[in-house]
Amino acid sequence: MNNFIFQNPTKIVFGKGEIAQLANLIPSDKKIMITYGGGSIFKNGIYEQVKEALKKHTTFEFGGIEANPEYETLMRCVAECRKEGIDYLLAVGGGSVIDGTKFIGTALKYEGDPWEFLEKPIVVDQAVPLATVLTISATGSEMNKGSVISRRERKQKLFFFNDACYPQFSILDPTVLYSLPKKQVANGLIDTFVHVVEQYMTFDNKAYVQDYWAEGILKTLVEIAPKLMANQEDYDNCANFMYAATMALNGFIVMGVAEDWATHMIGQEITALHGLDHGVTLALVYPGVISVMREDKKEKLLQYGERVFGITEGTVDERVEKAIQATESFFNSLGVKTRLSDYNIGEDTINEIAERFAAKNFVLGEKRNITPDKIREILHHVK
Ligand code: NZQ
Ligand code: ZN
Repeated sequence: MNNFIFQNPTKIVFGKGEIAQLANLIPSDKKIMITYGGGSIFKNGIYEQVKEALKKHTTFEFGGIEANPEYETLMRCVAECRKEGIDYLLAVGGGSVIDGTKFIGTALKYEGDPWEFLEKPIVVDQAVPLATVLTISATGSEMNKGSVISRRERKQKLFFFNDACYPQFSILDPTVLYSLPKKQVANGLIDTFVHVVEQYMTFDNKAYVQDYWAEGILKTLVEIAPKLMANQEDYDNCANFMYAATMALNGFIVMGVAEDWATHMIGQEITALHGLDHGVTLALVYPGVISVMREDKKEKLLQYGERVFGITEGTVDERVEKAIQATESFFNSLGVKTRLSDYNIGEDTINEIAERFAAKNFVLGEKRNITPDKIREILHHVK
């Protein structure tokens, strides 16, 4: 196990009816900007619950933050926050609204063009305090310091980290998931699954606790996925999904172990070029990554195959192949396609993505051996 330092300051307030806690969680003298997305919160009653809880607070609202939050939109909110003297941000939404709000909070404290801290390796450590009411489980953004922002005009999607962007608290009421479109449930299950494997499917780190945590999350997802797809209004399945998604990317399972993240880095480029949902890009890329990198990941693929999918029969190579197949079948079982051709993505995009990584001199993977040529091979594998 590697050395590590762990600290996560986000308070989690979990359970049915807990949105009402907002009244006590934010100091009453704050000027709060409530940020939200395209309007789902008006249809499922979340907006009313937030407004009711904050009726004694001073609140402003900014809506219209897109899925894959757009820089231009967020900059409009930054201007509005400056005008109103906002000193607290409350994101009511999913990864996109939360990430957008982390960007807004950071931009408000940043002197200069905020795109700089996305594009260049600039360290940012200041932000207006923020908190979240989570409405969709997937990204883990509700309990981490990361944020991913898109700039469509430039076909870019970039990320930054800021310690000051850990939400002060996040309210996780599993009943908010009842109103999610099926496609978003599938996206969230896949995103959670791939977050876990990015931090698990590397090599033997001799980190037994972290392995069992990771496998516990994966097994939970495999077990509840068909039930959730069939019936979204089962409280316990939603609660377990919500908790799994948060635990997948809040710093717990990654303590002391190697990380991959190749699938996310490649998937991010597919979204930048074609606008596909984040979860969809992961389902496309991941089967390619484990197939092409199977020799490097062999030990872990065997362990995963056995502990998550019960694969014990066959030679080493056969078991590895079965584990790869089981992963792709899991994504397909959620109604998500796993070939680039299913989305009319061809050779041009494969070349463009490989060239983007070559231009930045980027190599990916836990062993930093996924070169632009390997990226090409991975994408060809899922063509
Ligand atoms: O915008 P509204 O109208 O609210 O609709 C949203 C949106 O269309 C809808 N939705 C959310 N909650 C709902 C709901 N519809 C009905 N009922 C509800 N309760 O769902 C759609 C997708 O929302 P979005 O926030 O985009 O989804 P997600 O949470 O998957 O976030 C994706 C973004 O997060 C980034 C992704 O790259 C992408 O930009 N990620 C952020 C990470 C992080 N900060 O740590 C890590 C991830 O790997 C990921 O990259
Ligand atoms: Zn993700």
